[in-house]
Amino acid sequence: MAVTVTELTPTTGVQITGLSGARLVDKAVAEEALAALDRRGVVIYREADVSDDDLVSFTRLLGQVVPLPNGGHPTHPEIQRITRDPSKSPLAAYREGTFHWHIDGTTSQVPDKATVLTARQISDDGDGDTEFANTYAAYEALSDAEKRELEGLRVEHSFAASQLLVTPDPSPKERAAWDRNPAREHPLVWTRASGRKSLLIGATAGEVVGRPDLGRTFLDGLLERATRPEFTLRHRWRQGDLVIWDNTGMLHRALPYGKASSRLMHRTSVSGEEAVA
Ligand code: OGA
Ligand code: MN
Repeated sequence: MAVTVTELTPTTGVQITGLSGARLVDKAVAEEALAALDRRGVVIYREADVSDDDLVSFTRLLGQVVPLPNGGHPTHPEIQRITRDPSKSPLAAYREGTFHWHIDGTTSQVPDKATVLTARQISDDGDGDTEFANTYAAYEALSDAEKRELEGLRVEHSFAASQLLVTPDPSPKERAAWDRNPAREHPLVWTRASGRKSLLIGATAGEVVGRPDLGRTFLDGLLERATRPEFTLRHRWRQGDLVIWDNTGMLHRALPYGKASSRLMHRTSVSGEEAVA
């Protein structure tokens, strides 16, 4: 089958058709995926239909695979099952958190470089699309005065901040469980060694450190601007689709799907290569 490559929005996304199964597990394909990821943030292989073995092998070609605790997969510790069905994943109860714009692993010094998600079973009711927002483009679109205003600001990221969006009134026990995940402070603007800049915001961003005057509305306003339609891409899943995103620069969220939804994704993560600075 002929391979087609299509750019999706002016800033974000590449869609590739005609590549599936073991054909993805190829050094040249992975190198092109990494280059596209750098330029466009999101790479979509339509109906790639990869096996679990090939998903892990392909991820290894992209970088170091993160072993995922509690992934819920019976045979592959590198694969996390993303589902709301508690019989398929011990983390099912936390999936509602993914309905809010976020970046994965912001409580690490070195957040994951990329996330790979493949649709094993799409939602039976048409829900559960995934949206991406390009925080490099959002940063670029700020005025010089606004960029100066953000310079030097630091933000505390925590699992608790993201869970508060789902459960605004936790019991002391819930709160204590969240707080077992240590929080971490990061600059609001992430400047890469390459000089490229992005906004490090989203559900885990609790407050700007030492600036109570800025308050919650400041971070909410920034998130609102970064997720305007001109910076976003919406992916409507087909069975077998495989999507990779630059987790350092793409905010993402699942559009809500129900507790009884058939939606089941298999996910792998590529280790971060650059500390936030
Ligand atoms: C995730 C995530 C989005 C989705 O797995 O980290 O945000 O659409 N998933 O399931
Ligand atoms: Mn995520």
